[in-house]
Amino acid sequence: MKRSFVLAFALGLAICVVNVRAEEKEKDKKEITIKDVMKAHAKDKGHLAKSRAAVKGKKWEDAAEVAKEWVVLAEALAKAEPPKGEAESWKKLAGSYEKAVKTFAEAAKAEDAKKANGALGYLGGSCAACHKAHK
Ligand code: HEC
Repeated sequence: MKRSFVLAFALGLAICVVNVRAEEKEKDKKEITIKDVMKAHAKDKGHLAKSRAAVKGKKWEDAAEVAKEWVVLAEALAKAEPPKGEAESWKKLAGSYEKAVKTFAEAAKAEDAKKANGALGYLGGSCAACHKAHK
């Protein structure tokens, strides 16, 4: 009798631990928010500013490294749900953003300044339209 009680208690505890672990995992997956992605646009230390500086200085390795992180953010942005606006519009705008970041990543790898600047130019001008519709 006593033994089965201890067993049941241990089992209950084990289930609790597994549940907490599962919740933590879920949280990890959702970790990147839209606001986190927007930090990529911070004046000096954001991905956009760093990318511009790397291309200007022809530091292609730096550019490729920044681009790699930025692609992860852009992919998360495209999957995120905006606080307002139509889903169809978000798909278009966040999709274009993701595509441009990926184009920049390709350009950095290929050391293609023209392509890199084209993508950065698009990204630098992408803010207003998206904020108007979704922020
Ligand atoms: C694809 C859409 C999209 C693009 C492109 C975009 N933003 Fe945003 N941005 C948002 C949304 C949506 C929010 C509001 C997020 C929220 O409140 O959760 C936001 C919020 C912000 C914030 C406030 C973040 C905070 O912590 O409150 C800043 C700063 C920002 N954006 C800067 C920029 C700049 C600079 C650019 C262009 C270089 C840009 N964004 C491009 C969608 C976008």
